Amino acid sequence: MLKRTHNCGELTADDVGAEVRLCGWVKSYRDHGGVVFIDLRDREGITQVVFDTPGEDADEHAIRMYRDARALRNEWVIAVAGKVRPRGPERENPKLPTGMIEVVGSDLEVLNRSETIPFEVDEYADAAEETRLRFRYIDLRRPGMTDALRRRHAICKAMRTVLDDRGFVEVETPFLTKSTPEGARDFLVPCRLQEGTFYALPQSPQLFKQLLMVGGLDRYYQIVRCFRDEDLRADRQPEFTQLDVEMSFVTERDVMDATNEVMRAVCESAGRSFPETVPVMSYAEAMGAYGTDRPDLRYDLKLHDVGEIVRESEFKVFSAALESGGIVKAICPPGGAKFTRKEIDAYTAYAGQYGARGLAWCKVESGGFAGGAAKFIPDRMQAKLREVCGAEDGDILFFVADAPAVVNRVLAALRCKLADDLKLYDPDEFAWCWVTDFPLVEWSEEDGRWYSLHHPFTSPKPEDLDKLESDPASVLSRAYDIVCNGLELGGGSIRVHDLAMQQRIFRLLGIDDEEAQCRFGFFLSALRYGAPPHGGIALGLDRIVMLMAGGQSLRDVIAFPKTQRGTCPLTGAPSEVDEMQLAELSLRTVAQTRPTEP
Ligand code: AMO
Ligand code: AMP
Repeated sequence: MLKRTHNCGELTADDVGAEVRLCGWVKSYRDHGGVVFIDLRDREGITQVVFDTPGEDADEHAIRMYRDARALRNEWVIAVAGKVRPRGPERENPKLPTGMIEVVGSDLEVLNRSETIPFEVDEYADAAEETRLRFRYIDLRRPGMTDALRRRHAICKAMRTVLDDRGFVEVETPFLTKSTPEGARDFLVPCRLQEGTFYALPQSPQLFKQLLMVGGLDRYYQIVRCFRDEDLRADRQPEFTQLDVEMSFVTERDVMDATNEVMRAVCESAGRSFPETVPVMSYAEAMGAYGTDRPDLRYDLKLHDVGEIVRESEFKVFSAALESGGIVKAICPPGGAKFTRKEIDAYTAYAGQYGARGLAWCKVESGGFAGGAAKFIPDRMQAKLREVCGAEDGDILFFVADAPAVVNRVLAALRCKLADDLKLYDPDEFAWCWVTDFPLVEWSEEDGRWYSLHHPFTSPKPEDLDKLESDPASVLSRAYDIVCNGLELGGGSIRVHDLAMQQRIFRLLGIDDEEAQCRFGFFLSALRYGAPPHGGIALGLDRIVMLMAGGQSLRDVIAFPKTQRGTCPLTGAPSEVDEMQLAELSLRTVAQTRPTEP
């Protein structure tokens, strides 16, 4: 085989006259009156190769090569040798790094052929995603995909460098393990050697990294796969990668500072800056002003709690919600008075998708409020609303009245939609923040029990400990999340390292001593043997790469991702297995155990 001397992205006018050899894929093929032009592609770029029509005196080799060149088709794999020459003024392409030159073929070797490919290897090819995933090895030839994977690599490398410089040690932890509670369903793996038993794939290495701290590792990290059987969205995959970190003898600030350093290096590796200081916001502030614990701070557009202002209004929608313990919040998109009735109806329908029973509104004009709910809002309330919401003539006020969780969910979503529609932000900007002071637990009406907001190993704030049993809802935790542009990129906490405290928290969560022993006995036991104070964080690597690459979906930055339904169109996983395999595992599917119909 002809061994290459250069890649397809590196030859420039400086190389004119050089004899070179290139390998790659035929990106395109043109026959211009007997002269054959090939765009040859490898991961570094594209070089034009020309096979001139053989002259009268051409030898047998030249004639054969020309014949072979004319037979080339898209995506064939070839090696060519030739001389670099200038393209000539009319044929230069200044947009390509190699656009000033071409290689005149003097030898050609076809290394492999390709059948007609199912879609063009082109950034703009409109192949269905399912097809692209099925033929991912072709899709991966797109420069956009290759760039995303190389960017991912650069980000991991930047992370490793920073952490290595600061004395962190990368340690692997098991995949075949016991369930860790991160709030999703486990993927289970049946164990052949012990009939009827299962491993769980880790939702995160949470307990192992804590055990590493008990083991004296002090500074741990791992770029690690996590597995969660949950409903999938654009920013969720059933298997995804975390940069997982744990540190001993630290406070929240230490972990946040270390994370900032990692993120700064990541941003720099992607040619972006990272702020000198990242704003810190409490959970209560975030929920109050943005309705979510992952606020997008590229734009202001805050929510305003106006319950007290409108309490006396005659508008049933407001008074009924307030009387039943709900809240009323308003949002004031600038210039919104221009919305048509149809647009307002569309926003109402959008709010409905998030559970709103309606969307009250009124336009702000020089004479007062107009339209919608304006008639229910007397002048003195109007003045107060204007002031609190910063409303100006030409704006619109949207109100949602309901239980706090509904109001926040609806208005948080509406806020993002309005910011998109009104182009309130620069899509290239990054706005970072830390969210802290989360509640330790939240009540589930459905299950009639408390759940951890993060996970059960999160430490409560020491000053709130006396309320742990009497008023759990008011207890804050030592957890923190890092957020960028409305995306939760990572979260962590200072942990419980005291056995009695961990047991108290399990009890609060309705996990009695017996169950705690059965599920986490190994971990509780470690807390008996000198567990140091410790804390850590996990960053979602896929989300970080997606953000840096400007992608919309995690699938754009994962080589072999799963679809929204958790399937892999390439391999066909998940798939049925043969009965022998099931029998070996002492398993039967429900379909097999169902009595067959007579
Ligand atoms: P948490 O569950 O918040 O914390 O996960 C940390 C980060 O991982 C990313 N992430 C995901 N990314 C893609 N697909 C998913 N399904 C998915 N789920 C989570 C998010 C998230 O912020 N053990 C704790 C960390 C700790 O306490 O140290 C944990 O896993 O970016
Ligand atoms: P209704 O009384 O249902 O006809 O609603 C009157 C107006 O109030 C309509 O514009 C509804 O969209 C709006 N509305 C109804 N319920 C709510 C609610 N819970 N919060 C905010 N606006 C609402």
